Amino acid sequence: MTPLEHIIKQEIAGSGPMSVERYMTLCLSDPDHGYYIKQDPFGRAGDFITAPETSQMFGELIGVWCVDLVQRSHALSALNLIELGPGRGTLLCDLVRAGRTSSPAFADAIHLVEQSPALRRVQRETLKDAGLDARWHKGLDSIPRGAFIAIANEFFDALPIRQYQQTASGWRQRAIGLDSNGVLAFTTGDEPVSESAIPPGLRDQPQGAIVECCPGAQAIVAQLADRMRSHPGIALIIDYGPRRSGAGDTLQAVARHARTPVLQAPGDADLTAHVDFSALAALARQKGAAVYGPCTQRAFLLALGLEARASRLARSAGRTQARLITAAVERLAGVRAMGHLFKVMMIASKSMPVPEPFHSARP
Ligand SMILES: C[S@@+](CC[C@H](N)C(=O)[O-])C[C@H]1O[C@@H](n2cnc3c(N)ncnc32)[C@H](O)[C@@H]1O
Repeated sequence: MTPLEHIIKQEIAGSGPMSVERYMTLCLSDPDHGYYIKQDPFGRAGDFITAPETSQMFGELIGVWCVDLVQRSHALSALNLIELGPGRGTLLCDLVRAGRTSSPAFADAIHLVEQSPALRRVQRETLKDAGLDARWHKGLDSIPRGAFIAIANEFFDALPIRQYQQTASGWRQRAIGLDSNGVLAFTTGDEPVSESAIPPGLRDQPQGAIVECCPGAQAIVAQLADRMRSHPGIALIIDYGPRRSGAGDTLQAVARHARTPVLQAPGDADLTAHVDFSALAALARQKGAAVYGPCTQRAFLLALGLEARASRLARSAGRTQARLITAAVERLAGVRAMGHLFKVMMIASKSMPVPEPFHSARP
């Protein structure tokens, strides 16, 4: 039993079943035992490999995307570069290196939103090696106002979700309790849930159906869109999830590069859920922002020149390295790899130029 499982069982024994949102919050962010708080989970020796950890090309192409915007918008001549959930800091370093090649003054100030002390340490080292300075924040509130570009790669999928289940007596919150053997098990809360809590468009579901919402993601998108009303800004959101909202249980756990049961080993496995792009887009529009996409990660990276960049890198690489570059292109953009599963959406001030790849063509 993990130390966190013991704590969770005690809490359930004392106060009754715990919501999925609370379970996810404890598993990922408990100050002592939370998954992200205590460790660096990335890489082959860790639990998963994200796109920036797959290849430098990912961050470089995002750098190209940023420079294009900076060059087409006077409003971005002084800019805060914000990254939400920067992991090891790899994306940021690749992005700034590529951005500075064509736009030396690119990114006046770098702000990182990171909750994990362990990952902040890793980010500090990565940035120091790249000669970059940054300020760290727990949330967007403390970041100075001003024009901004915000990047969030695989950040929103790590934010705790609420799950609701349709039962014979109406919607209930899905929760985690203890079965007759004292083992963690899914259940539903006793309190009726008002239909207004269920995402519109998903209210008419058969018994047993599960729907999800992510209050944390909504709060951050609302904050970004509010900033965009007073200062020119754009947010690039890359994550996995469907284009349109749908019912279904998308909560999943991954440890050592393999799916594991969600209730096994709390605090020792990564927990994620699909990002509901439609819900976030609707909220951003309601707050007055423009929304572009989502398009697939494949469409985004190919439009930004992934293949040309890969060919250029391969020309100066040895045979083994060239094979790794080809494999990275396949992993990032392949239809059976991240290319279709991951989506790219942009939320922007209406005064901002239309971002690529939507500026050149509709992917
Ligand atoms: C899956 S990792 C993605 C890392 C990086 N963007 C990448 O692509 O490699 C999620 C990141 O978000 C951070 N994170 C998760 N929840 C957070 C929260 N509520 N506030 C701030 N950072 C958070 C994690 O510590 C980690 O850095």
